[in-house]
Amino acid sequence: MLQRALGDAKVSAIGYGAMPLSVDGRPGAEDAIATVHAALDAGITLIDTADAYCLSSKETGHNERLVAEALRRRVADRAGIMVATKGGHTRGGDGTWDVDGRPEYLKRACDASLRALGVDVIDLYQFHRPDPVVPFEESAGALAELLAAGKIRRAGLSNVNIEQIEAARGVVPVTSVQNRLAPSFRSSLAEVRHCEAHGIAFLAWGPLGGMSIAASVGDRHPRFAEVARRHGVSPQRVALAWELSLADVVVPIPGSSRPATIIDSAAAVELELTDDDISLLDAD
Ligand SMILES: NC(=O)c1ccc[n+]([C@@H]2O[C@H](COP(=O)([O-])OP(=O)(O)OC[C@H]3O[C@@H](n4cnc5c(N)ncnc54)[C@H](OP(=O)(O)O)[C@@H]3O)[C@@H](O)[C@H]2O)c1
Repeated sequence: MLQRALGDAKVSAIGYGAMPLSVDGRPGAEDAIATVHAALDAGITLIDTADAYCLSSKETGHNERLVAEALRRRVADRAGIMVATKGGHTRGGDGTWDVDGRPEYLKRACDASLRALGVDVIDLYQFHRPDPVVPFEESAGALAELLAAGKIRRAGLSNVNIEQIEAARGVVPVTSVQNRLAPSFRSSLAEVRHCEAHGIAFLAWGPLGGMSIAASVGDRHPRFAEVARRHGVSPQRVALAWELSLADVVVPIPGSSRPATIIDSAAAVELELTDDDISLLDAD
């Protein structure tokens, strides 16, 4: 599998977003674990999770515990696998999403993630989403404290603009930025360029447009369907290959709730788009 840099480490150029294993429409636990194993078998070495990937506050950490269990059953693979989790989103008892960017909350959330993942140190800890009532530097400062305390190896941001990336870089080394990027969502290209200029990995979330529309990439984007026909592959694979072509710092993290889709997505690293294909897709 093609590798890309994540700070001082290398990870597979396609990561695996584990969210669909824990939210509405999720599979049973054994099918979920089989999906994580399929990702590993396909050569994926970056798994993205979050404490908030669950149905409600009653099961915070559901996704982290699932990923940990899947990895425990493959002990030999653990060392080479980077698990990236996040804190800063909360779930209500009814499943509503909220944010909490207070440093004291983030430090507590990190401790809970360490327990859910069953590790002493988290490979990559990402601040999930800016909290409008907490100065961004204060939230980023919590990441610096967690690094200094040895609880996390690397710090990342998510759902941020360039100004916020720079504000964070003033208080903590930023290894990665995780923003939305898809054929249907290109406004984050500015952050891609910024990350490229500063050697920050850009983890593309919702790279197929998101769980509800991923199946219809080809219907929504006729040029992606056309390039897919040219190469005899799925439009989803074309979308991921196109994202890889945007910059060497981009690592798409497609979600999957079953083995077949993550196996198809992982193969995007082998799809060689021509300059003509890329011009067509850029203009879609
Ligand atoms: N930082 C954030 O705020 C944030 C927000 C949202 C998501 N994320 C992360 O980003 C990851 C990806 O985002 P996402 O899951 O929302 O959206 P996505 O990756 O755009 O779409 C996920 C859906 O795509 C389908 N799929 C995957 N590969 C496919 C293929 N090759 N062919 C056909 N269908 C395919 C899967 O279907 P099946 O279910 O049938 O397998 C899955 O439900 C999440 O899992 C999560 O880790 C982060």
